[in-house]
Amino acid sequence: MEKVIITGGTGYIGSHTVVEFLNAGFETIIIDNLVNSKIEVLSGIEKICKRKPVFYQEDITDISAIQKIFEEHKDAVAVIHFAAYKSVGESVENPLKYYHNNIQGLVNLLRKMQNTGVKNLVFSSSCTVYGQPEKLPVTEKSPVIKPESPYGNTKKINEEIIEDTIKTNSEINCISLRYFNPIGAHPSAEIGEFPLGVPDNLLPYITQTAIGLREKLSVFGNDYNTPDGTAIRDYINVVDLAKAHVIAVNRLLEKKNKDRLEVFNIGTGEGVSVMEVIRSFEKVSNQKLNYKITGRRPGDIEKVWADTTKANKILGWKAEKTLDETILSAWEWEKKIRNKS
Ligand code: UD1
Repeated sequence: MEKVIITGGTGYIGSHTVVEFLNAGFETIIIDNLVNSKIEVLSGIEKICKRKPVFYQEDITDISAIQKIFEEHKDAVAVIHFAAYKSVGESVENPLKYYHNNIQGLVNLLRKMQNTGVKNLVFSSSCTVYGQPEKLPVTEKSPVIKPESPYGNTKKINEEIIEDTIKTNSEINCISLRYFNPIGAHPSAEIGEFPLGVPDNLLPYITQTAIGLREKLSVFGNDYNTPDGTAIRDYINVVDLAKAHVIAVNRLLEKKNKDRLEVFNIGTGEGVSVMEVIRSFEKVSNQKLNYKITGRRPGDIEKVWADTTKANKILGWKAEKTLDETILSAWEWEKKIRNKS
């Protein structure tokens, strides 16, 4: 059984990706310090897959801990790297926390990859590297700019670090997946998004409002240059997104990659406004959402959605789930964790 190391494997995207690797017959080794996730996620994964991931509660910024894990698992065929902080607002307040964790973690992993036989990397990047693109949909050839937030900048710098490292090390190959906005939960409702504290992101805020944990959703601005005035994003189902990682690892294992660093947009290709997300939620949950229009959130861009032609053609990957079924999966998960299903 081929083995993959998944950093951040108990997190939101990480846990769904662990499930897809287990389903595809891989052995999974999770490294996660549980700073932004819960140990119970492992039971959720086991319920879905009837198999257990190997789990290390370690911090990837701790080089000696990483060293031990890589020694034990030097037969791993790839690293899938998720472990990173991801709150845009917090990164503006505390940039050094983000630069330390998100940069040092990757540097440690690359060091260990250089010293061991683990040579394939799938990196968790973001559409944030495009900022507000001039042309939509945004392709992988669009210019990468200095993102608005330190969080976004860590993703851009990480891609640069990988590029520079690959130039000097002829054995490491990487696929960087630039995610648009991941939402939803596993259809089993055994795993999903579990924000600690007040959610920053739209969909968990909606489901927490609907379940009664938050009073009302603030819609950040309705004066954008979009059909209904609210901002537009490309919301990608987290299970669809997770599947792209398995395809990426197989591509590297089969040595089908054309460059040693390949970049792919992972989105649906559809732009959806905040109001459209709310309407979809109201439809699938059969209830009205309490919301109010407020001012724009500083740092938000107006609109972005992906050109996914490259991922569709070269990876043979395509988003499959509809917006409604994805939002319903998030709602089922919210009800389950609050014992209200
Ligand atoms: C941002 C980052 C993305 C990152 C993600 C992780 C950018 C461009 N995007 O996504 O790279 O992966 O955070 O956290 O930096 N909204 C409301 N009310 C709310 C919450 C959100 O109206 O309470 C609106 C936002 O203004 C935005 C949309 O919903 O238009 C999506 O927001 P959010 O879910 O926070 O994601 P992004 O900011 O797009």
